[in-house]
Amino acid sequence: MRISPRGLWWLKGGLHIAFILPILYLAYLVLSDNAGGDPVQYIIHFTGMGALNSLLAALLVSPLAKYFKQGLLLQTRRLIGLYVFAYATLHITAFISLDLLFAWAFLLEEVIKRPYILVGAVAYSILLLLSVTSFMMVRKKMGKRWQQLHNWVYLVALLAPIHFYWSVKSEIIEPSIYIVICVVLVYLRKQKLAKYLPQG
Ligand code: HEM
Repeated sequence: MRISPRGLWWLKGGLHIAFILPILYLAYLVLSDNAGGDPVQYIIHFTGMGALNSLLAALLVSPLAKYFKQGLLLQTRRLIGLYVFAYATLHITAFISLDLLFAWAFLLEEVIKRPYILVGAVAYSILLLLSVTSFMMVRKKMGKRWQQLHNWVYLVALLAPIHFYWSVKSEIIEPSIYIVICVVLVYLRKQKLAKYLPQG
């Protein structure tokens, strides 16, 4: 059975709810003093994991659409991608406002102390570019270059779990699992990405 346009409409509605509810839940936890002993750390962790999990969801769409022969599913990618960007924006906003307290002078010091921040910043810059070019009007204007630019999401898929792995102090099992899943999801696109690799 194929998903109908009406089914797609409902699916998109469900996805909006699935991505917005955790943000409301986080706000509730923080406002009710239930965000652990270090609420700032809690918010950075929650939104960082939200961004990474949404990214995995976005990367899963096309293999699922192919496997189940549900082409319409591909139309959910923009929506999910924009939630990746939204979660990542909340993540860095929490870092800059609540952790760094807007002390820009300390940013360089922080980057030297925690170089994984640079990896996150590169990933975020790409997400920003992908989001601002995600509109149909821009897509049409960019022609072929649009797909080339949007293939950079696979670099984000490698940088984001590396940023996660590098940021943790001891517990490396969870970030290692994320790295493996992300590498598999990128590997599934090996044919599409082959043209970017040096030809032997
Ligand atoms: C300018 C961009 C970014 C900055 C400044 C930044 C900063 C940080 C900081 C300060 C931490 C907390 C590390 C700690 O002390 O425990 C962190 C963790 C994390 N970040 Fe980012 N990040 C950025 C981009 C991203 C992006 C684009 C993603 C995902 C798409 C992401 C996902 C994560 C994850 C999953 C964690 C681990 C959460 C934890 O276990 O606490 N970050 N990041």
